[in-house]
Amino acid sequence: MQPLPTTMRAVHQSAYGGPDVLDIVTLPVPQPGPGEVLLRIFASDVTSGDARIRAFNVPGIFWLPGRLSLGIFGPRNTLPGVDFSGEIIAVGSGVTRWQVGTRVFGQHGFFGSHAEYRLLPETAAMAEIPAGLSFAEAAALPFGGFTVLDFFNRGRYRKGESLLVNGGSGAVGVAAIQIAKAYGSPVTAISSTRNLDTLRALGADTVLDYTAPGFALPQNAFDVVFDTVGNMRWAGIAPSLRPGGRFYEAVISGGLLLDALRNGKRMVIGTGNPTPEGAAELARLASMGALKPVIDSRFAMADIRAAHARVDTGRKVGAVVLEL
Ligand SMILES: NC(=O)c1ccc[n+]([C@@H]2O[C@H](COP(=O)([O-])OP(=O)(O)OC[C@H]3O[C@@H](n4cnc5c(N)ncnc54)[C@H](OP(=O)(O)O)[C@@H]3O)[C@@H](O)[C@H]2O)c1
Repeated sequence: MQPLPTTMRAVHQSAYGGPDVLDIVTLPVPQPGPGEVLLRIFASDVTSGDARIRAFNVPGIFWLPGRLSLGIFGPRNTLPGVDFSGEIIAVGSGVTRWQVGTRVFGQHGFFGSHAEYRLLPETAAMAEIPAGLSFAEAAALPFGGFTVLDFFNRGRYRKGESLLVNGGSGAVGVAAIQIAKAYGSPVTAISSTRNLDTLRALGADTVLDYTAPGFALPQNAFDVVFDTVGNMRWAGIAPSLRPGGRFYEAVISGGLLLDALRNGKRMVIGTGNPTPEGAAELARLASMGALKPVIDSRFAMADIRAAHARVDTGRKVGAVVLEL
């Protein structure tokens, strides 16, 4: 086995703020302990979640819990990056699930993936990259994919149920359309005019342009409405739901929290958690060609500020990939 490198480059966040709080630093490469693997990360993505954490962009009602969790005066964890895609280059003692040389993609916690190397527990939510997928393509899958699988799971989604996706062109939206189509659901998706063809290409049966005059949701049409924009409220979408229909809300605010408290199991909020089973499902769908990576743009690590600026526009289509 080749000796491990001793240093690596990583993105570092010095404070909460705009993209200029990010820099590149040199750090020691960590060594895997018992039950850990060392990953050489070749690609990640700058997600809307990374941008939120960087800017501490959370609704007022979550300010205090958010600061207690992320750091009161500045980020407690200064190494950002949620998704990873790379190759296992060393394993610690007792590791049985993974071998050196395996190409994997996944997500683990909210930090540490915008670096050339990262330690992961062997139980992390990751799966082998399907043949034919590049590291960059695999890095585009976890953020949206895990979110959709977790909301489907907690929201008692059944295969074939009709789905409306608001924000169909974002990272979560492109995953929701494709996964629901793979599960046999009729899908309606909403975006602005310029992204309608993308929604159709991903399999949406019906597309709606929210910028069109007279834009309105069909009534009594959906088993599930999945909002990835944060501009819907229960009262507005309830007439569009069929009896027993559910409302999945990926973006939370004080008003939506009240909606969720009032509507019990018919409304699903919260953080989409990654699991090893979810990673295996994403790999299965991708290997079948049912879940295709959608890449908005690619940036080198040195251009991390530009990558964040692109995410901050709120207009990306799929994933902003970071090549490490
Ligand atoms: N709860 C969770 O666990 C969880 C997990 C992941 C993400 N999220 C949240 O979910 C949200 C979406 O994440 P993402 O990564 O998918 O975001 P994203 O990739 O930045 O999505 C941007 C998309 O939103 C669309 N959009 C903007 N305004 C719209 C409107 N008025 N109506 C319909 N579409 C609109 C844009 O399309 P156009 O350019 O066509 O307008 C754009 O393609 C973020 O707020 C993120 O924080 C939550």
